[in-house]
Amino acid sequence: MTDGLTTGVPTTGVPILRFEDVNRDFTTPGGWFARRRVLRAVNAVTLDVPAGRVTGVVGESGCGKSTLARLALGLIKPTDGRVSFEGEDLATARRARLRQLRARMQMVFQDPYSSIDPRMTIGDAVLEPFVVQGIRLTGAARAAKAEALLGMVGLDPSLARNHPHHLSGGQKQRVGIARALALEPRLVVLDEPTASLDVSIQAQIVALLEALKARLDLTYLFISHDLALVRYFCDRIVVMYLGAVVEILPSPAAPIRHPYTRALLDSAFVPDPTRRQTLARATGEIPSAFDLPPGCVYAPRCPLADETCRRIRPQLDRSAHPVACHHPLDRAGAGS
Ligand SMILES: Nc1ncnc2c1ncn2[C@@H]1O[C@H](COP(=O)(O)OP(=O)(O)OP(=O)(O)O)[C@@H](O)[C@H]1O
Ligand code: SF4
Ligand SMILES: [Mg+2]
Repeated sequence: MTDGLTTGVPTTGVPILRFEDVNRDFTTPGGWFARRRVLRAVNAVTLDVPAGRVTGVVGESGCGKSTLARLALGLIKPTDGRVSFEGEDLATARRARLRQLRARMQMVFQDPYSSIDPRMTIGDAVLEPFVVQGIRLTGAARAAKAEALLGMVGLDPSLARNHPHHLSGGQKQRVGIARALALEPRLVVLDEPTASLDVSIQAQIVALLEALKARLDLTYLFISHDLALVRYFCDRIVVMYLGAVVEILPSPAAPIRHPYTRALLDSAFVPDPTRRQTLARATGEIPSAFDLPPGCVYAPRCPLADETCRRIRPQLDRSAHPVACHHPLDRAGAGS
């Protein structure tokens, strides 16, 4: 499909999306008994998302993953810094241009139930991006396009005339993926796309995403709280803690350097999800995002924390395997 854009498709490995020293603050409203408070949901994030690859973002609930996703798509603006897609600053792009760019970057949400309007037919739901872009399709082209998209995600094309309440959770997520692919985007941001699904269905959706990526030469920004899943699926893994990037694993098999990533991985081996929580928090509480300690924000939970950690906030180093830690784990043997 032609979209009137002049930008070329970046070759594999070239950054398609770029975060440069990005902060994003949210202000809570004040009231009679509460003062206005500012929460930094994304803190000094500098990150490249290479074309044609799967970049994973992992971290616990509230660490800023969805805020990063919304910044990536220009749905919200950074408080400071710059987010650019194919070299264009999303905050300064004019509205019409932003709409054009948005055709090239799409989102798949965690909850397929709330992201599909139950009053629409499934065919109308997958074709909604054309309406948003102001692209009119004739009756025959509409039907053909809807059926092709449904077939592409492994659904029976005849479902196009049905309503989504007939679909299972996994089928609804396939509709969400079909809709995200309708305009042939380059970048797809997947925000916990399998988190609300049963484990067996999760595996099917991940296999579908892998097949679509290979077939359509897509770039994924894959967000999850599940490090084991991210390690399976992603080429490169960004670990976030309280809004900041604490480690970037250059490959899924890279030895882990940050104590927090280690704790995330250890908790992932516990099959019972209620125990996972306990283990991850075993070494202390997460500090309030409103009131971060002066040094390393992971220090209250970190078994390796010392005076230096409590005084000086570690910065992400500029190595091939960046980590923000004063005492990174031994490269040999610490990973796996
Ligand atoms: N619109 C908003 N107004 C105020 N605070 C917000 C807003 N959106 C997010 N936050 C806060 O920013 C922080 C990061 O939220 P975010 O949704 O990005 O986290 P997350 O990693 O996606 O969490 P989850 O795994 O639960 O989806 C949280 O403390 C959250 O409460
Ligand atoms: S800087 Fe210190 S407290 Fe922070 S993660 Fe590294 S060892 Fe732990
Ligand atoms: Mg989220």
